[in-house]
Amino acid sequence: MDPLVDAWGREIKSVRISVTDKCNFRCTYCMPAEGLEWLGRDEILSFEEIARLVGVLARLGVDEVRLTGGEPLIRRDLPTLVGMLSATAGVRDLSLTTNGVLLDRLARPLVEAGLQRLNVSLDSLNHVRFAEITRRDALDAVLRGLEEAERYPELRPIKVNCVAVKGFTETEVPALAELARRKPYVVRFIEFMPLDADQAWHEDDVLTGGEIRAIIEASHGPLVELPAKASSTARRFRFADGAGELGFVNPVSEPFCSSCDRIRLTADGQLRTCLFSRREWDLKKPLREGASDAELTQLLRFAVRHKELKHRINDPGFVRASRSMSQIGG
Ligand code: 5AD
Ligand code: SF4
Repeated sequence: MDPLVDAWGREIKSVRISVTDKCNFRCTYCMPAEGLEWLGRDEILSFEEIARLVGVLARLGVDEVRLTGGEPLIRRDLPTLVGMLSATAGVRDLSLTTNGVLLDRLARPLVEAGLQRLNVSLDSLNHVRFAEITRRDALDAVLRGLEEAERYPELRPIKVNCVAVKGFTETEVPALAELARRKPYVVRFIEFMPLDADQAWHEDDVLTGGEIRAIIEASHGPLVELPAKASSTARRFRFADGAGELGFVNPVSEPFCSSCDRIRLTADGQLRTCLFSRREWDLKKPLREGASDAELTQLLRFAVRHKELKHRINDPGFVRASRSMSQIGG
């Protein structure tokens, strides 16, 4: 079958699937402190519906699946879905992005179901500052979750994601850099994007990857750049003495849209071809109205042909996405 290619020649290889819009954290750069309305149970795709779509996508060459939320681990029986997807022909790479707070209990069943890779969000190693940014006092639970995940060598690499916010993250960088040296985790700094529900993002709030790199190099000396895959969003570095890997995901200061190979599926079955899409493609309705695989394929091809060329965060008159990060799925 012909691959899934957009109007600019980019081949879609990766899908990020949000399995719930709910979360047990309230990170300031993502959710409001209170007041978000949750989707109803019937609005959310079932495991069977998700697996059906993944099967269709896999036949179109999409071989990488990442599960996200909200917080994916609060979706009941998530390992069952992981098992269904890992058994789907064509799915080569199956990963999960989580805040880590429930990993302590779930790492083993997830690995047993076939999960291959893990990203854990972690913005500070200081209890007070962690609670400040996530609005939850859960650092110890996250660290326990990471320790548990580390026990399964099948689950590699383990990436630790830190959203870099100016005026907050600078002081957290040294301890996070040390974490990369001390533990088998790739620590990655992600530039703060205008996807926060509070709409408080301002360009001055972005702490760039370049700025963080300078903080680390001031204490550890020059970092050595490592080769990265063409479709990778991160630039990879190691410390000069060889211990530890760092990554910088710089969507604002160094946009990587031209090599973007992803699409996203929201928990309520809407296809998004960009984080910053202003329009969504309803897949739930056709799924529930009995569309054939051929019809779903046609719809997917049509949506992908309309994939946005790039985000316009840095352009004057930038218009925010229609939903915030926890409703889209990182
Ligand atoms: N900017 C950048 N990254 C964000 N994330 C959530 N909100 C934002 C934002 N506004 C990240 C989380 C997590 C992933 C799902 O998305 O830290 O790693
Ligand atoms: Fe929850 Fe992740 Fe959003 Fe934090 S960033 S509130 S952990 S969905």
